[in-house]
Amino acid sequence: MKSSYNFNGLKVTSFESRRAREIERLILYHGGTPRIAPSMREVPLSESRAALRFAKELLLGSFDMVILMTGVGTRALVQAVSAKYEVSEFKKALRKTTIVARGPKPVAALRELKLKPNITVPEPNTWRDILSTLDSDKGLKGKKIAVQEYGISNKEFINALRRKGAKVTKVPVYKWALPEDIGPLKDAVKSIGNSGEDIALFTSSQQIYHLFEIASKNGSKKKLLDGFKSTVIGSIGPTTTETLQRFGLSADYEPDSPKMGNLIREIARVGPSLVNKKRVALKNGVSTADWRAVDMIWSKGSQKKRKQVTRDSVFMKACRNEETDYTPVWLMRQAGRYMREYRELRSKVSFLELCKTPDLAAEVTLSAVDRLNVDAAIIFADILLIVEPLGVGLEFSKGDGPRIKRPIRSGKALDRIKDFDPQSLNYVYDAIKITRRALDPHKALIGFAGAPFTVASYMIEGGGSRNYENTKSLMYSDPEAWHLLMEKLTLATTLYLNRQIKAGADVVQLFDSWVGCLSVDDYREFVLPHMKKLISNIDNETPVIHFGTGTASQLNLIKQSGSSVIGLDWRVDLAKAWRQIGYDTAVQGNLDPVVLFSTPSEIRKRTKKIVDSIKGRPGHIFNLGHGILPKTPVDNVLALVDFVHEYTHK
Ligand code: CP3
Repeated sequence: MKSSYNFNGLKVTSFESRRAREIERLILYHGGTPRIAPSMREVPLSESRAALRFAKELLLGSFDMVILMTGVGTRALVQAVSAKYEVSEFKKALRKTTIVARGPKPVAALRELKLKPNITVPEPNTWRDILSTLDSDKGLKGKKIAVQEYGISNKEFINALRRKGAKVTKVPVYKWALPEDIGPLKDAVKSIGNSGEDIALFTSSQQIYHLFEIASKNGSKKKLLDGFKSTVIGSIGPTTTETLQRFGLSADYEPDSPKMGNLIREIARVGPSLVNKKRVALKNGVSTADWRAVDMIWSKGSQKKRKQVTRDSVFMKACRNEETDYTPVWLMRQAGRYMREYRELRSKVSFLELCKTPDLAAEVTLSAVDRLNVDAAIIFADILLIVEPLGVGLEFSKGDGPRIKRPIRSGKALDRIKDFDPQSLNYVYDAIKITRRALDPHKALIGFAGAPFTVASYMIEGGGSRNYENTKSLMYSDPEAWHLLMEKLTLATTLYLNRQIKAGADVVQLFDSWVGCLSVDDYREFVLPHMKKLISNIDNETPVIHFGTGTASQLNLIKQSGSSVIGLDWRVDLAKAWRQIGYDTAVQGNLDPVVLFSTPSEIRKRTKKIVDSIKGRPGHIFNLGHGILPKTPVDNVLALVDFVHEYTHK
């Protein structure tokens, strides 16, 4: 059994100083070969004039607010002040101000002093987070603010405070110097320049300044930058990532929350595949210096070879019921609101705008794959995009989900439906093209569409529904109109999916999420003929995954519609359902998405049960029984993916 949390012997360089030993142990623990190049030394200004001046003014009641940026700095500040003043007096004066702690470390330092911050800045604790927290609290205009600084003064932050009308006093408490022995740092510069390191880890901005200071002195800055093109760069958090960008580098990985343990654990997990990905890109002439996932191009001019590699991937083999080294896994709705990156992006752009901007849709698609280490990407889009060009009006309103502005409630209303022009969804094909070029060839790209029934139900109901009254009414009272609507949707969906395949989708999934509301007879009469037609018209023998929920009674009919893979929800016993469907069709599923709200051990137990039940039979794609829910903890999702890979590895 192979652990996924493993560097597999890769060479990992760290620039951490204070916690150098700890990071070395962590790298070793995760199977890496560490190179420890301490890059800085703290110089406490024990006779800091700035600190003493600050204390004097504070005691005179001059400040409205004190912002504490770091834990070490907070302690050093008190130490410096204690050289001349009573600590109890200093604390009393501090209490009269609004104390702002940038994150958990200054909070801990304050706790030691038996002080509590008035405001704690939420993660990831960047200067922008400080600003937005203060902004939402109360105005800064005219406020006298002291900022405890560390390392290099953060000009952007100070200027932003001043622009808001604050009077800012900088209180530098200690500064960083190069370490006394710069030998290890010089060696690291050399080794990275010679492409001798696989992964470089940055746990603070100052490390980057010092690394480049040394390289510049040696005249090897260009060589260093070149070396980084084949070295995966891990960054502890957004501030460090910003500093990397200032030097023309991009972070290849940043953990969800900025902690050293998280960085090492997560990069051990995805590091080997990132190293591979970055080097293949370089070989294909792609500059990774300003790497955003969407800039990666895998296979310039050799699409044929790329297709072959993807054809032989674990995921594609499973679609064809072929033996694989392990069970492939992906998750419906794997890119979505449960991820911080996604929520951040969505705070800036609307959902529809995101879908319609190919670069962004590709980035969202790819970042989910990078983070989760799943075996397939699913293009970021929505099953309802297709109804917009049909002319019924589409809206995604906050909290309420999708809404159709002009629902189809009668046979007559069908006349309003426009002919589908596949070009109207060019943005989806463009996103697929970008994603496919950037995606690891060993991973499949899934295109998708809503199945005609589920899309029709939205068009008729105008939104989600409990009982599908309007849908079934139309079906029962005007079967001719129903079939006409289904024909229109079947044609549109066929054109749409074939264009996705042409753009680079390796597999397509049909989401018939709500078809389980129908009786067996209704399925046979009102849905099956259209599904058969749709699936038989999919181009190039591309595997089709047919997904539905609540379909236990319909499985025999679903099988007849001819897909290569049938997706099952958690309400059925996967092994039994597969036996019923027949082993010539592959299956996908079927962990209850709510299990992801429990603990990793419960998740493993239930996953093991599913995997054990099918006894290693080829043709199983692991997935949830329905999409990931928005409040799902990311760590539990990672635990699931890793467990499927580890446990099923032969
Ligand atoms: O799986 C993926 O990562 C790819 C993207 C994807 C989305 N929707 C993005 C999305 C996929 C495959 C879908 C399919 C989809 N959309 C289905 C079928 C699957 C299922 O869950 O049954 C359905 C029924 C829809 C329709 C839809 N879109 C609903 C009901 C909603 C609102 C409810 C909800 O879950 O948010 C959407 C919006 C939507 N589609 C979001 C995302 C990430 C959330 C939009 C946001 O950011 O606020």
